[in-house]
Amino acid sequence: MSACRFAIIQLRSRLGKLNKSEEKLMIIGVVKEITDGECRVAATPASVKKLIKLGYDVQVETGCGIKANFPDSLLAAAGANVLEDGAQVFSQADVLIKVLPPTDQEASELKPDSTLISFVWPAQNEQLVSKLVEKNIKSLAMDCVPRISRAQKLDALSSMANIAGYRAIIEAANEFGSFFTGQITAAGKVPPAKVLVIGAGVAGLSAIGTAKGLGAIVRAFDTRLAVKDQVKSMGANFLELEFEESGEGAGGYAKIMSDEFIEAEMALFAEQAKEVDIIVTTALIPGKPAPKLISAAMVKSMKPGSVIVDLAAQNGGNCELTEPDQKVVKHDVTIIGYSDFPSRLPTQSSTLYANNVVNLVSDMTPEKDGQLTFDLEDQVVRGALISYEGEKMWPPPEIEIPPPPTPAVEEPPSAPDSGELPESAANSWVFTTIAAIVGGLLLLLIGRYAPSDFVSHLTVFVLACFIGWQVVWNVTPALHTPLMSVTNAISGIIIIGGILQMSGFFVNASASTATVLAALAVLISTINVTGGFLVTQRMLGMFRKQD
Ligand code: NAI
Repeated sequence: MSACRFAIIQLRSRLGKLNKSEEKLMIIGVVKEITDGECRVAATPASVKKLIKLGYDVQVETGCGIKANFPDSLLAAAGANVLEDGAQVFSQADVLIKVLPPTDQEASELKPDSTLISFVWPAQNEQLVSKLVEKNIKSLAMDCVPRISRAQKLDALSSMANIAGYRAIIEAANEFGSFFTGQITAAGKVPPAKVLVIGAGVAGLSAIGTAKGLGAIVRAFDTRLAVKDQVKSMGANFLELEFEESGEGAGGYAKIMSDEFIEAEMALFAEQAKEVDIIVTTALIPGKPAPKLISAAMVKSMKPGSVIVDLAAQNGGNCELTEPDQKVVKHDVTIIGYSDFPSRLPTQSSTLYANNVVNLVSDMTPEKDGQLTFDLEDQVVRGALISYEGEKMWPPPEIEIPPPPTPAVEEPPSAPDSGELPESAANSWVFTTIAAIVGGLLLLLIGRYAPSDFVSHLTVFVLACFIGWQVVWNVTPALHTPLMSVTNAISGIIIIGGILQMSGFFVNASASTATVLAALAVLISTINVTGGFLVTQRMLGMFRKQD
């Protein structure tokens, strides 16, 4: 809705002259994040457009997106109404979206009976939850969206962890006094940096990808062996322990490991610490303090100038010497314990977060009529719901996360005891035999009366049809591209044959039936060859790196 139409509706609302559809107008409000150093915003010009398409009206506080490079002008151009005063947005919004949990003051400003969509961290913010219940706010926590496959598009935790993993490597590279990639220069040889990533969840895999991209040698460790293939597919070495204990907890998440396991993995890290230049730790078990995996002695054993980035700092840290939200140098090793990595890449993190929010709003607006509906039977909505109609809804009832599907093992067809073929196989065998006999008889009959030239051509034609059929239907899809090259080659031969056949026309200037057929063959084969090239070109385009 345009700013102009909104102003008219507001005026008509004051005069009490709203029509039926305008009465239903729901306002989504976006406010500036007031926490020091927070640069993200919950809406971008693209997300504003999508919210408006869903039937909502969007109001934003002036300057809310400036730190994420989304100035008011872009938000207004997308259709948002920019309001001078944040308090105005709070008081008018039917649905308030923001990034960080509201402060006590912000929670007081929420319009009664309205909806809040933001990170809430209910376990750590009990007072806030009580306030939301008290004010009859319907609150949805982006951090509580169940991590099931259907809800991946709303998974703000993964969006942020992905960015944190990337930024962890960038911060490490900034502190590290050397190249990541190895080089041989006239002035000497530079060895590649060695990076160890502990915990290969979303953040860990993102860190691995970034470090590999910069040319480092990357090693990774995780208690869940399920991630081994993912680590390897990203080009890193997966370190393994000779210890029989699975790290798989409920729903595919990590579980707390035995003391013996932790001891064994710490021995592995102690060895690695002497060798590697950078350690990124991301080890965490949901809802538990982070396990201490890097001791002070390990830090001491690292080369001077090494870097540790502790992504688990918020939850107590994986390194004994980490100081939350600080960068410290201990034993000549820089230890980074920032907890605001996503905010250090504000444009990207705001874009992903805003997309996650829009996807949630879209799922809750099935009619695209600007009306947020709460389907409490929906696992995703129920999981994210913290307070609803004056009641505390968190924690939600446990949902069963289906185990990963086990590959279906096809039973080999068992031979019947009697030694007879199964009915379907027997039928197809009978059909093939009858067809072969009939075909053979037909060829004999034609051979008896037709000229010998015709019979030899017909035999080649029938065989070509048979082989063509077998090639097209029995080739696995992976081989379709080489197959296309073969058909192109055959078409090329046909074109040459056709041109030769047509040469009579150019000499005598008379078109026989053979010349017309040859021209037709040349035309069709040319279409096949050209089409083949175009399709191949497109397929190659899919594998080409974008600039
Ligand atoms: P996740 O829960 O998906 O991954 C944690 C990984 O650690 C899992 O693969 C788990 O198997 C592994 N792990 C658990 N115990 C381990 C052990 N003893 N040894 C080795 N590996 C172990 O979490 P995600 O999404 O990858 O995030 C990782 C961490 O990054 C979390 O602590 C999260 O809070 C943090 N984070 C920090 C941010 C920041 O700005 N500092 C921003 C976003 C995430």
